[in-house]
Order: sequence, then structure tokens, then C-alpha cells
Amino acid sequence: MSTYKKDIPVFLTEAQIKSKVKEIAAEINKEFGDEEVTLIGTLKGSFVFFADLVRELKMPTRCEFLGVSSYGHQTTSSGEVKVTLDLSASINDKNVILIEDIVDTGLTLSFLLEYLNARKPRKLKTTAFLFKKVALKAKDLTIDYVGFEIPNRFVVGYGLDYAEHYRGLPYIGTLD
Ligand code: IMP
Ligand code: MG
Repeated sequence: MSTYKKDIPVFLTEAQIKSKVKEIAAEINKEFGDEEVTLIGTLKGSFVFFADLVRELKMPTRCEFLGVSSYGHQTTSSGEVKVTLDLSASINDKNVILIEDIVDTGLTLSFLLEYLNARKPRKLKTTAFLFKKVALKAKDLTIDYVGFEIPNRFVVGYGLDYAEHYRGLPYIGTLD
């Protein structure tokens, strides 16, 4: 899979994505009302979902990003998580929502929850646009707002890459 493929089969259309983002935003708007929320996006994958979601939120928001190491060029999880870019501000006593592109084994999310909880936020919620429930290995993991539960396929687009390609695809496609 080292060459760039042009016609990636559609798995979720732009329209499906758009309406799901609105659904998630509505839940968050309902839960937090006018309270300020710090959004933390995990780079790089969540930047597109993050940008769509923040524009649907009605409360005051702060935008933060965490760089986490991903698969490299493999399509299976190593289970090793490394923080490559840290938060730029304190989240102590803040309402926080961690924004993930996709939860696969859940190892990244479970590591990040521990990492962020150690900084004593007031509330820590999680959202993942895609969730491969069958691939989940991490125990006792809560995802508060899930976009789509998907089968164990390798997907790209809408921020998600394979070997750094396809992040800019406006839809979600399958590569396997
Ligand atoms: P986890 O730790 O196994 O849950 O994996 C989380 C990370 O693996 C995600 O944030 C993605 O960067 C990457 N990942 C998992 N599945 C896919 C996929 O189907 N396409 C692209 N990246 C994926
Ligand atoms: Mg990610």
C-alpha cells in the first residue's frame, strides 16, 4: 500500500458526516449550556472533526491540542502512546472535552484519560467520531459522545491517514 490511490471507496458520505457532527454538538450544547469548555484535540487525526465540531458549539470554548504518536506506517496498533506535543494551558478545574478522530483498541484514549485526569479538570468528557467497538482492548473505557460505531476496517479521510496520506479527503473511505 505504498502508492497513493486515487479512488477510495466511500464508507461515510460528507452528508452523513455533517449531520452526525451536528448531533454530537447538540448533545454537548445541551450538557454544558453556557459554561466554558476546553476542547482538546488529538493531533493529527482529529483536526478536521475538531474544526467542524467547534463551529457548532454555542458556549465559550478554548482550543487545545495534544500530539500523540500513532501507528507510524502500520495499520495495527502498537499500544505504545507517546505525547509529542503538550497542552499550552492549565486544565485544572476546567470543563474539558477530549476530541478523538477514532477509537480502535482504545489504548490511546485510555492513556490520555489518565494523563488528563492527573491534571485535575473539573469535568472530563470524551468524544470519538468513529469507534471500532469490536477492536476494543482497553477496559472500562467510556466514550461520552460517539459518532459512528464502525466495523474493524481501516478507514481514511476526514483527518484520518494511511502513512500521512488521505487526511484531506472530505468523506470517510475504506482502504483495506
Ligand atoms: P487505538 O489506540 O488503537 O485506539 O488507536 C487510536 C489511533 O490509531 C487513532 O487515533 C488513529 O490515529 C489510529 N487509527 C486507528 N484505526 C485507524 C483507521 O482505521 N484509520 C486511520 N487511523 C487509525
Ligand atoms: Mg488519533
